Amino acid sequence: AKVAVLISGRGSNMAALLYAAKAADCPFDIVLVAANDPDAPGLALAAAEGVATFAQSHVGLKRAEFDAIIDAEIRKAGAQYIALAGYMRLLSPEFVGRWEGRMLNIHPSLLPKYKGLHTHERALEAGDSHAGCSVHIVTAELDDGPVLGQTEVAILPSDTPDTLAARTLIAEHQLYSRVLGAYVSRYANPDWIIGQVDRLAS
Ligand code: GRF
Repeated sequence: AKVAVLISGRGSNMAALLYAAKAADCPFDIVLVAANDPDAPGLALAAAEGVATFAQSHVGLKRAEFDAIIDAEIRKAGAQYIALAGYMRLLSPEFVGRWEGRMLNIHPSLLPKYKGLHTHERALEAGDSHAGCSVHIVTAELDDGPVLGQTEVAILPSDTPDTLAARTLIAEHQLYSRVLGAYVSRYANPDWIIGQVDRLAS
């Protein structure tokens, strides 16, 4: 399956997907890495790895206008799925509707806990024993679609938001490629995959 990855920054999850895709038995290929910030550091890595890149600043464009430009690039690249990976821009309902069931996101919390930003701070403040990460199907509401897989990450007494984020990121990199691979392989039967991937992740 052909996947476009959307990023806004560092792109470490994009890199994890890209390197996972190099395995002979990986069921997905990264055909495009697109960013809404031309300075996103992840773009340089994708280009160095020989992956097509596209950058378009959203500044001065209406949300739907901007999304239509990205959508056209994704289609041109022949992508069948989209993986959001640190993409810090809300998507228009039109775009979400067009890619319904074919767009995944990774979020650094055990959803439905801590949607939005500062997830690690919030988990620490709440005194949680575990943080974690989730891969979910993207729906119109932020960080709200069906969860396909999660990894729990133990919180240490010494953790700060930064140390917890760094450890969670390791789990993110493993989880995203595993869930995306399972999802694109079993898309024909999404109910089956949701149960299956949850089991794999637990
Ligand atoms: C990750 O923690 C991801 O879960 C969140 O934003 C961060 C992006 O990091 N959505 P990277 O750009 O993939 O390194």
